[in-house]
Amino acid sequence: MPGHKQGRGIDKEFYDFIGPNIFKIDVTIFDMVDGLHHPKSHIKKSPRTYRRNIWCQRKLFHCERHFWWYSGHDLIAIKPGDKILVPRNIHISVSAGIILGGATPVYMQPEIDPVNGIAHGVSPETVKQTLLLHPDTSAVLVINPTYYGIATDLVSIVNIVHGYDIPLLVDEAHGPHLQFADDLPISAMEAGADACTQSTHKLTGALTQAPYCTFRGI
Ligand SMILES: Cc1ncc(COP(=O)(O)O)c(C=O)c1O
Repeated sequence: MPGHKQGRGIDKEFYDFIGPNIFKIDVTIFDMVDGLHHPKSHIKKSPRTYRRNIWCQRKLFHCERHFWWYSGHDLIAIKPGDKILVPRNIHISVSAGIILGGATPVYMQPEIDPVNGIAHGVSPETVKQTLLLHPDTSAVLVINPTYYGIATDLVSIVNIVHGYDIPLLVDEAHGPHLQFADDLPISAMEAGADACTQSTHKLTGALTQAPYCTFRGI
């Protein structure tokens, strides 16, 4: 990794289109580059740089804390034994987080698109009804937007969840671009969510896995 060997292994048409520079900076782990699993220099410093950059946190990410995530989503707002409400169609990384965190999932049924046979987000009504049945829940997680790009009514969900004084976590893996354009659906942090995870490598562009997590007061 990377398999393109400084661009030599890349399809010629793509290489000619994008140019050589991107392949020069897409390199594997060695001392000067730093390592994701045991960061010592640039990677270790980068979350601190972000934390110091108040403009970046408040204006760009609408949050109080923001840090890079080294591969994969996780759940950081739960303790062993906690109950967490999640949609039935959560990503496997969220299931893994629930198992590793020792929490108990309560599944919510997402809206189903009968024409295309795919699952969308959960509706505010579903969140409301599930919380009525499980008022001892510690946190609620929703996916927004979905893999298929469908957004739910996040502001209503935030209000319902905050009515129970618990955090709303948003799996925004497919929505890191939402905060950059007013005519797109509202982003998780702008809607008032307490934390979200975003995958830059899906929609805003990263050479390798580069998700990050954004917090407000958890
Ligand atoms: C809805 C959803 N959540 C989370 C993830 C995992 O994100 P990451 O690629 O940052 O590990 C994915 C990946 O496909 C996803 O589709």
